[in-house]
Amino acid sequence: MSEQHEQKEFDGIIQAGNDLPAWYKHIFVYAVFIGIGYAIYFHGFSSWGTEDYYAGQLAEHEAKFPKPKEIVAIDGANPMREDSLAIAEGEKNFKNVCAACHGVNAEGVVGPSLVDKEWIHGNTDALVFENIMKGIAIEKTKLGRGPMPAHDNSLGSEKVYQVMAWLASKNDTLVAK
Ligand code: HEC
Repeated sequence: MSEQHEQKEFDGIIQAGNDLPAWYKHIFVYAVFIGIGYAIYFHGFSSWGTEDYYAGQLAEHEAKFPKPKEIVAIDGANPMREDSLAIAEGEKNFKNVCAACHGVNAEGVVGPSLVDKEWIHGNTDALVFENIMKGIAIEKTKLGRGPMPAHDNSLGSEKVYQVMAWLASKNDTLVAK
């Protein structure tokens, strides 16, 4: 037993003062270098991080669910009025999305009729577009039957204009301007 590797004794328990084996020290030193190398490779060069993975997932999702096409009305009037293709698409979308609250023929259920002459939030394309895209928040409601949900993210402008083209084809009190 050498000087610096003295045995220690506490309360009758003896700790041997053996040096760490060389292989053990080597593994320790290598592990430190491998660790530094790994960190540099991981952050600087690899594509193992979550950012690339996330970007890949996002691209996949956007390919599967493309963002709704953006349609801009120049003067507020629905650019799809009287377009028979848009009217047919609009009817389908209305029956899928709006009919639960407004009735299959827009005759009104919880939401008001959209085929009568009465418009409580405005009867121009610009106002109706705003009401459908942004919804009608609870504090703006006039019927006290709950709010009207926004459809800007779920449908987007193209589908909303299609729905409005269908409504306009059934109700001539929905005017362009
Ligand atoms: C969850 C039920 C619900 C859904 C779904 C819904 N609405 Fe409504 N909508 C309402 C309610 C309730 C009102 C009336 C709010 C109030 O009290 O003023 C309303 C009001 C409206 C108005 C204003 C009517 C007016 O007289 O001025 C329009 C236009 C309208 N909805 C269109 C749509 C369209 C188009 C869709 C489908 C894209 C749709 N809504 C989906 C519940 C709904």
